Amino acid sequence: MNFPPQNITGLPEPDKASAEHSRKLAVLIHQVIEEKGGAIPFREFMDLALYAPALGYYVAGQHRFGADGDFVTAPELGDVFGRCLAKQVAQVFQRIEGVCEILEYGAGSGKLAATLLEELACLDAMPERYLILETSPDLRLRQQQTLKQKIPQYFERIIWLDRMPEMAISGVILANEVLDAMPVEMFAVDDEAVAQQYLVKSADNGFQWDSRQATGELAGQIEKLALPAGYSSELNPAVNGWLEMLSDVLQQGIVLLIDYGFPRHEYYHPQRTGGTLMCHYRHHSHSDPLTLVGIQDITAHVDFTAVAEAAVEAGLDVVGFTTQTNFLLGSGLADIITTEKAGIEHVEKNLLKLNHEVQLLTSPAEMGELFKVMALAKQFDHELSGFSIRDMRGRL
Ligand SMILES: C[S@@+](CC[C@H](N)C(=O)[O-])C[C@H]1O[C@@H](n2cnc3c(N)ncnc32)[C@H](O)[C@@H]1O
Repeated sequence: MNFPPQNITGLPEPDKASAEHSRKLAVLIHQVIEEKGGAIPFREFMDLALYAPALGYYVAGQHRFGADGDFVTAPELGDVFGRCLAKQVAQVFQRIEGVCEILEYGAGSGKLAATLLEELACLDAMPERYLILETSPDLRLRQQQTLKQKIPQYFERIIWLDRMPEMAISGVILANEVLDAMPVEMFAVDDEAVAQQYLVKSADNGFQWDSRQATGELAGQIEKLALPAGYSSELNPAVNGWLEMLSDVLQQGIVLLIDYGFPRHEYYHPQRTGGTLMCHYRHHSHSDPLTLVGIQDITAHVDFTAVAEAAVEAGLDVVGFTTQTNFLLGSGLADIITTEKAGIEHVEKNLLKLNHEVQLLTSPAEMGELFKVMALAKQFDHELSGFSIRDMRGRL
């Protein structure tokens, strides 16, 4: 079976060092395949491609975020996203008695943390501590450099963790584009059974798909989706465990998850027969995860219905679900544009940059509709302004 469909023409050639890096990671994955008896599930392959110690895409020193990287995330576009988010965070802090903290998962370049802390200081809503859970030593270093340079006055408040904190926190847990970077299982449905996609070593020292009958819990999860024969897609088996961890650590407050994805009926739409897996390499998108191993991003959209179900099971309340555009509008986007414009001394270039940033964040053709924001609550029963324009929980 040609699985998944491929569309990889026109990718830029990696330079010598990147190609060598990719080769080393491929050798490591081949070793793991051999140790595991000749095949590994796709989830394990994706985990190694993104997170193998010293070599995985998010662990080794590649340029990933921003114009000179592979993709751009909302905080990298400018300050607008972070300033809106800060207003929502400040509103949560106002409702909690006692010390409030922020825990950010996978903090990228550190840009979001810098904007948030700057804006929260202006709003008189500084968190006692800003915790960053970052498993990549390389990204941690980059975040430290960004934050030391941009907000030296608040640097002492920032604490890096490589696992969940031991003590529970009150306040806000943030994860922007983290769920989409979690390894997924890939599967295909035919008339007889459900196949889980494995990888084996190919004759040319690359990787090759191998379909095997899905069993156990995964088979049950796929069968529950009731998909027609010929359908292939993916699912994230780690969502439940992840939300349990978040729920354990959150004593009181809100979890805000921002990512691209859909409610389940749209995710597994009859016409989306090839799933949502995407790879990003120097601003080129394609669907072959078996190429450029370790030097390209691999990502899948988020099934927000699965997230909501897992959250409820973990003891969290689903208190908001909306598009990024509606969330930003509800969180004061109009005011922020006005103040940003006032801050610009009518230099045409900067005004154009701001317009471009807002357009990318909110246009339905860009991030505005595809990106969703979900709020999960613990011991917190107050309205959230970010969901005041339109709450779409009914569509989950
Ligand atoms: C697409 S990047 C987004 C980075 C940043 N939040 C931003 O918006 O620019 C995904 C990040 O999620 C992190 N990540 C994925 N799974 C994680 C997990 N289970 N725990 C902590 N970080 C994780 C990755 O290491 C990576 O830094």
